[in-house]
Amino acid sequence: MITFKKPIIFLLLSIWLSLSWANSASSHVDFLECLSHHTVNSNSISQVIHTPNNSSYSTILNSFSTNLRLTSKLKPSIIITPLNESDIQAAIYCSKIHDLQIRIRSGGHDYEGLSYISDIPFVIIDLRNLRSISIDTENKTAWIQSGAILGEVYYRVAEKSKKLAVAAGVCPTVGVGGHFSGGGYSMLSRKFGIAVDNIIDAKLIDANGKIHDRESMGEDLFWAIRGGGGTSFGLIVSWKVKLLDIPEKVTIFNVTRTLEQNATQLVYKWQHIADKVDNNLVLRLSLTSRKSPVLHGKRTVYVSFTTLYVGGVNELLRKMKKSFPELGLVKEDCIELSWIESVLYSWFPVGTSLDALLDRKIKDLAGYVYFKRKSDYVKHPISIDGLEGLWKLMNQQGQSPPDLMFTPYGGKISDFSESETPFPHRAGNIYQIQYGLNWQKRKDSPKNIARIRKIYRYMTKYVSKSPRAAYFNYRDLDLGVNNKGNTSYAQAKIWGEKYFKNNFDRLVKVKTKFDPTNFFRNEQSIPPLLSYA
Ligand SMILES: Cc1cc2nc3c(=O)[nH]c(=O)nc-3n(C[C@H](O)[C@H](O)[C@H](O)COP(=O)(O)OP(=O)(O)OC[C@H]3O[C@@H](n4cnc5c(N)ncnc54)[C@H](O)[C@@H]3O)c2cc1C
Ligand SMILES: *[C@@H]1O[C@H](CO)[C@@H](O)[C@H](O)[C@H]1NC(C)=O
Ligand SMILES: *[C@@H]1O[C@H](CO)[C@@H](O)[C@H](O)[C@H]1NC(C)=O
Ligand SMILES: *[C@@H]1O[C@H](CO)[C@@H](O)[C@H](O)[C@H]1NC(C)=O
Ligand SMILES: *[C@@H]1O[C@H](CO)[C@@H](O)[C@H](O)[C@H]1NC(C)=O
Ligand SMILES: *[C@@H]1O[C@H](CO)[C@@H](O)[C@H](O)[C@H]1NC(C)=O
Ligand SMILES: *[C@@H]1O[C@H](CO)[C@@H](O)[C@H](O)[C@H]1NC(C)=O
Ligand SMILES: *[C@@H]1O[C@H](CO)[C@@H](O)[C@H](O)[C@H]1NC(C)=O
Repeated sequence: MITFKKPIIFLLLSIWLSLSWANSASSHVDFLECLSHHTVNSNSISQVIHTPNNSSYSTILNSFSTNLRLTSKLKPSIIITPLNESDIQAAIYCSKIHDLQIRIRSGGHDYEGLSYISDIPFVIIDLRNLRSISIDTENKTAWIQSGAILGEVYYRVAEKSKKLAVAAGVCPTVGVGGHFSGGGYSMLSRKFGIAVDNIIDAKLIDANGKIHDRESMGEDLFWAIRGGGGTSFGLIVSWKVKLLDIPEKVTIFNVTRTLEQNATQLVYKWQHIADKVDNNLVLRLSLTSRKSPVLHGKRTVYVSFTTLYVGGVNELLRKMKKSFPELGLVKEDCIELSWIESVLYSWFPVGTSLDALLDRKIKDLAGYVYFKRKSDYVKHPISIDGLEGLWKLMNQQGQSPPDLMFTPYGGKISDFSESETPFPHRAGNIYQIQYGLNWQKRKDSPKNIARIRKIYRYMTKYVSKSPRAAYFNYRDLDLGVNNKGNTSYAQAKIWGEKYFKNNFDRLVKVKTKFDPTNFFRNEQSIPPLLSYA
């Protein structure tokens, strides 16, 4: 039985009174009026408040709503694009008195659209205008606002120094706000840990509109937002991260083998070395089923070994020869370049200008297709038979090929205990699987969702058990949801344990202390224990 401190009512009251809006709260004024009273000066209202009557509304709504599969009966009553913290405080205050739910959107990459979709009346706080990045090369730190995208972060850091890097995700269009609060895997994670392992401070606005930094929020809340999801606890405005030393040259390669080219043996062997090789080496696999021209249109599985090695090409070749000679890597497969170029060329053809990293709306990267994703963790190598069964399923006919990623863990990720942050997938995990399917037409949704679930069912006996773990940033509502208004602990624990293992209980405890009335919530938010609220 966990014990909780009761919220101290007079403390809350004093916070309310300290805010300028306190004396004008009235349930009669409508939400819009409330906002215009409490937010920004009238000159900037049109930049901040977007009603369904404004032409900006649908442009803003759709521009970062990246998964077309998801729709809801309701549209947001209002979209707010704050210019500063007082706009956010006003939005929180007015939503509260008008009983509107808040959806917070940074990059909009949530796999289940929880940053912009809701079935109960809601407003969106879209952080696109809060994207400043301030870099201190002397102390090797940066303050990054949540509305920035990862590509921008990498670009700005590289602009200041080619010898510093940030440990965060692979895709440049992902938003900082969701990514940092949910974990953050990258090609640097085996060397430096995941994003949350490198976060040293944050600014958060709580359900009472109060602004906190690490010191004033305390270590429990600071722990919770580093992997436990932002939305359960507050709106995180900005993050302070460590900048990491990186050599001026790193090496990449991307070698593809089909089943006819021994891919099964290679994947089998890979499972025995992927989490154990030098921390400087990440060998990530992407697997997809396609019709092969050399096989006269027969389907096969293509396995691409995509790599970042933090070091030069000769060293890499020596290490590959020792750990994974079967791949037959040769110097011609490899490119030596700067870290920032390695980020760019994992998405764009060699020669693309670095400015591409600043583009938030790259169609292929940011979605704008129908898609579904699921995730798993593998703790014991899958047998050859097991792999062959997987290939068979992947090759079953379908217009859109399933797309699997095998992402190696180990290295620095395992240096942290399971409870150090809410992200629990540490030592003992060889690799993570992401199952993905993209398609182009709404009518194909049921069929394709069924296909991905079938592959997931097949994998049950090969992946982690009790719980069958999943990665929070690869959000999957199949794992369970909070019913409307029902935030029972037992119900949330079903999905919560999969993402957070034993950390779920501590997250509930932090939630109960900091947001006892469950103001910040969604289908997969941490519930407070209501009896203590
Ligand atoms: C193309 C693509 C590539 C990806 N690559 C990687 C990868 O390499 N590594 C990896 O680890 N993950 C990756 N992901 C997953 C990604 O990390 C998550 O989807 C992440 O949550 C997206 O963050 P966002 O800000 O873009 O999303 P949003 O949809 O804006 O937000 C996601 C969730 O966080 C909440 N949230 C957002 N901002 C805040 C805030 N400021 N305060 C409080 N709550 C907030 C939202 O309400 C929502 O619940 C990828 C996703 C996509 C679509
Ligand atoms: C926020 O911006 C508005 C203008 O949009 C300004 O009036 C207000 O003073 C700003 N508040 C803070 C705290 O900077
Ligand atoms: C948006 O709509 C509101 C309410 O209809 C209106 O007052 C405001 O002027 C509009 N803003 C813009 C920029 O059109
Ligand atoms: C939108 O416009 C309609 C018709 O002009 C008006 O009746 C309605 O009040 C407006 N809504 C808002 C939120 O301004
Ligand atoms: C580095 O940190 C120190 C100590 O906190 C601070 O005094 C100094 O101003 C920082 N350097 C820069 C460039 O901000
Ligand atoms: C396939 O891999 C196996 C095991 O590593 C090896 O013995 C065999 O020679 C390889 N075959 C080819 C064609 O490379
Ligand atoms: C690797 O190569 C394959 C096959 O050419 C390609 O489909 C894939 O996009 C490449 N991946 C990366 C990360 O470059
Ligand atoms: C909430 O969910 C729990 C667990 O599923 C269930 O026991 C309870 O009856 C539900 N309560 C309501 C009000 O629906």
